[in-house]
Amino acid sequence: MNTLKFAALGDVRKPGFSVPEAAGRLVRFAYLEKRLMFFCAAHMVGVCDRDLKVYLGRLQYQAASRADALRGRLRELRTPKIKIDGVPDPALEILADEAMHAGNDLEVATILHWLHAGLEGAYRGYRGTTNPLADAPTCDLLDSFASSLRPAVERLEACLAEVGPQAPGSSAADLLGPYLSAAGGWGGAHPRSELPPRQRSIEPFRIRRQPGRDGSCPRVWDYVKPAMEEVEAHLTYMMGIRFSEINVAEGLSLVLCETPGMPWEFYFDVSRHLWDEVRHSLMGEAAIESTFGSRDAIPMRDYESVYCMEATPLEQYATLGLEIEGGQMKYPVGKRGEWEFCRDAARHALMTTFQDYDWADEVLHVNLAKRRLSEWFPDGAEQLSGLAAQGKARRSEVKARQQPVVLARVVSPALLHDPGMDGGSTLRPVSRT
Ligand SMILES: [Fe+2]
Ligand SMILES: [Fe+2]
Repeated sequence: MNTLKFAALGDVRKPGFSVPEAAGRLVRFAYLEKRLMFFCAAHMVGVCDRDLKVYLGRLQYQAASRADALRGRLRELRTPKIKIDGVPDPALEILADEAMHAGNDLEVATILHWLHAGLEGAYRGYRGTTNPLADAPTCDLLDSFASSLRPAVERLEACLAEVGPQAPGSSAADLLGPYLSAAGGWGGAHPRSELPPRQRSIEPFRIRRQPGRDGSCPRVWDYVKPAMEEVEAHLTYMMGIRFSEINVAEGLSLVLCETPGMPWEFYFDVSRHLWDEVRHSLMGEAAIESTFGSRDAIPMRDYESVYCMEATPLEQYATLGLEIEGGQMKYPVGKRGEWEFCRDAARHALMTTFQDYDWADEVLHVNLAKRRLSEWFPDGAEQLSGLAAQGKARRSEVKARQQPVVLARVVSPALLHDPGMDGGSTLRPVSRT
């Protein structure tokens, strides 16, 4: 049983890091993961490539989860909250501010890769030095991080290889490396070079109010809602609504990135909410592709995006959480009704699974929004519901700016019970007369 000695932890005899040395590194990592979350969420709005956009939605929540775990570990290591919430190094802050100014999809992917690879290397370095017995909880955490970081590094590497070599001097290492050197590396333990002045971050970064789209699917302003009795038409409509939830996710990026000064728990919850809305859009995409053979078979609707980009973050979050998602808890018109429709009327197996989980997610979102909004407005439940009602009215105004269209093709009854089949021709929207 020698292989199990010391609980199979490894080299338990090396002195490793002291608690202050460990905490000094981990506080930097937690900060960088938090900034990575903001980077991914902010750029999810602007990037045009649909696949990169939804991947950013996933990466931002993975970074938030690692940040949250590191923050928990820091509390165990006698680290005061003020230190956990603060900026651990001005050079790291400038590095993260400069990264935010990535100007296009390629630059976003390049910086993403550089940050993920850098953090992965930093965790490996820490893991190799710390005492695996004394600091076992940190080691377990860092080991678990590898399951999100390694695939991200590999996938981003493959993406960048497809694009080909970059122009000299424009890599993430060229742009951000000098700030990392000035910070003494990720963990701060290396010799420091002189801190270069800010370049692009002299002006604060602001999310563009024009979400990027790549033309991989047609777009319309809004759909005409078919009655539930028109089963095939209603199912097609429902898939389109799910697909279009990317608009809600982009709106939540604004809530996440443009609501400064909130406690960490607020950002962590909104990050989860954001990822869930991206998942709902992916559910629509998967159902459309599985049923019709291609994701461009059903157009995405745009009006919600216009509302989200025009609204203030607070109004938008109150409207989403209290009016829209809150309303979906009703029965038989709400989320349970949608699930039952897919199961009993449409008998579409994949959509039944998706709506089942979508319903569970929405219950969570209503609770998150209620909790967070009451923190924003500790004594103003009335004020909040007023804001939500005002947002709902504004959203209806935006919706009415253009005519909705009828989704011209519906799921054929033959496909309903065999959702893996290719639907053949492409669906096109038809203007309502
Ligand atoms: Fe949703
Ligand atoms: Fe939701």
